[in-house]
Amino acid sequence: MLKLIEKDDADELFALVDRNRTYLREWLPWLDMTNEVKDVEVFIERSLKQHEEGVGQAHLIIEGNEIRGVCGFNKIDKTNRSAFIGYWLSADAQGRGLMTKACRELERIAFEELDMNKVEIHAAEGNKPSRAVAERLGYQETGRSLDAEWLYDHFVSFVLYCKRQSDWRTL
Ligand SMILES: CC(C)(COP(=O)(O)OP(=O)(O)OC[C@H]1O[C@@H](n2cnc3c(N)ncnc32)[C@H](O)[C@@H]1OP(=O)(O)O)[C@@H](O)C(=O)NCCC(=O)NCCS
Repeated sequence: MLKLIEKDDADELFALVDRNRTYLREWLPWLDMTNEVKDVEVFIERSLKQHEEGVGQAHLIIEGNEIRGVCGFNKIDKTNRSAFIGYWLSADAQGRGLMTKACRELERIAFEELDMNKVEIHAAEGNKPSRAVAERLGYQETGRSLDAEWLYDHFVSFVLYCKRQSDWRTL
């Protein structure tokens, strides 16, 4: 189940990040800036503001009553009707298709509710599980962005994946 993030989620979300710090740090750039609940509160406030302005959305992935991860649109480009999906799961929630399912729901939101023309997933070249999510969902690989992100002490290049509304309708 996806639930839009709320201010009250900060404590549980910070605890999850803290438990998964080493694992998440391999591919996500914000772990060293997330050291206390306050940092998650700032993230939530920013996400709520982005949602209000229609330029982003953050959802929690909930199973039972517990947060398993976060997914959403890091950016929504309203002019060009493109949405950019980002995601992470706790280490012990991997391997069961939760993120693939969550992305299907994000696609529905993007194409049906927001009338986006295109959604994109940018995954680091070496991040096989993330690339597998995009490939399993039938995204087209459209190119590379070299040295796209600084990850603590090195750059990573991104593989760019895309799905258009017209592709989605025919899948
Ligand atoms: C990227 C990430 C979300 C992928 O998680 P994941 O669990 O591999 O992805 P899914 O939830 O879609 O599950 C797919 C796995 O479940 C299996 N699976 C089981 N049932 C499934 C189902 N009904 N549907 C799809 N897959 C299923 C798949 O075979 C696959 O397992 P495999 O890799 O052993 O083949 C996770 O590794 C992560 O959060 N990593 C750290 C942060 C990160 O890299 N974020 C992305 C930055 S771009």
